[in-house]
Amino acid sequence: MNKELENAIRDAGRIREPLKRIRVKDYKEVMYKKEQMPLSLPDIDSLRDFGGCYLVHGLYLLQVARLRMIALASMIDVSITAEYTRAADRLKKDAPEIEFETICGDFRDQSLYTILRETDAALLYEVILHQENYVEVIRNVCKKTRKFICLAQPCIIEDFFVLPGGAVMLQFFDEALKDLLRTGSFWPKEPSVERFSAAYWMWGQTTSHLINLMRGFGWALYEGYVIDNVCGSCWEYPMLVFSKK
Ligand SMILES: C[S@@+](CC[C@H](N)C(=O)[O-])C[C@H]1O[C@@H](n2cnc3c(N)ncnc32)[C@H](O)[C@@H]1O
Repeated sequence: MNKELENAIRDAGRIREPLKRIRVKDYKEVMYKKEQMPLSLPDIDSLRDFGGCYLVHGLYLLQVARLRMIALASMIDVSITAEYTRAADRLKKDAPEIEFETICGDFRDQSLYTILRETDAALLYEVILHQENYVEVIRNVCKKTRKFICLAQPCIIEDFFVLPGGAVMLQFFDEALKDLLRTGSFWPKEPSVERFSAAYWMWGQTTSHLINLMRGFGWALYEGYVIDNVCGSCWEYPMLVFSKK
């Protein structure tokens, strides 16, 4: 490509979403912020957590149910943990007016959405980077959510991309390259796979990619900021709330 054009594209492409950037003490602080994000949303009476079980056993959903006394708390996970079921049952005893919906299912599956009720808000915490059809997943989540979607996950840093809105499918990268991208992050060493596996990291999506995607489905950034120091220097951790336009 002609050098002048390349440089002009580089310069024009450097403009990205100007989000506030913060640093935290540790991942515990990130978890606290993930708890607070849905708690601060106005006028929500139902919440669905997509993939809220692994390690945290529904913490983010249950906290909102407990403190906001919402009418419906819905969990969808392909692997519902016994700890989640126990915690939801305990809360149900204390607050019988809350309806708990637990769906052991795969949210990549289009047919799941035909049976889902709408909720006021939804959580997509650390799940979108694992789905080969994440655009479809987001489209379906948008359709089934009335007001707010909270999205938080490691995103690959914008510096790797000349153009804004970048995303890279990294599941099949050479192990040596993946190891470099893992540096200082909590992306664990994983077995190499020959086919897509939602159990492992699949995508390096940029924050601007996710914001553009939501924009395409008619959702605007309601609030958002980026945490810089929780996942190594190749990743940033955006905390984003979108509202329906
Ligand atoms: C990385 S963990 C994130 C857990 C939690 N949301 C958090 O932020 O700590 C991913 C979770 O999503 C679930 N999951 C991933 N892909 C899924 C899919 N396609 N359908 C249903 N559950 C899925 C996993 O079982 C797991 O509980």
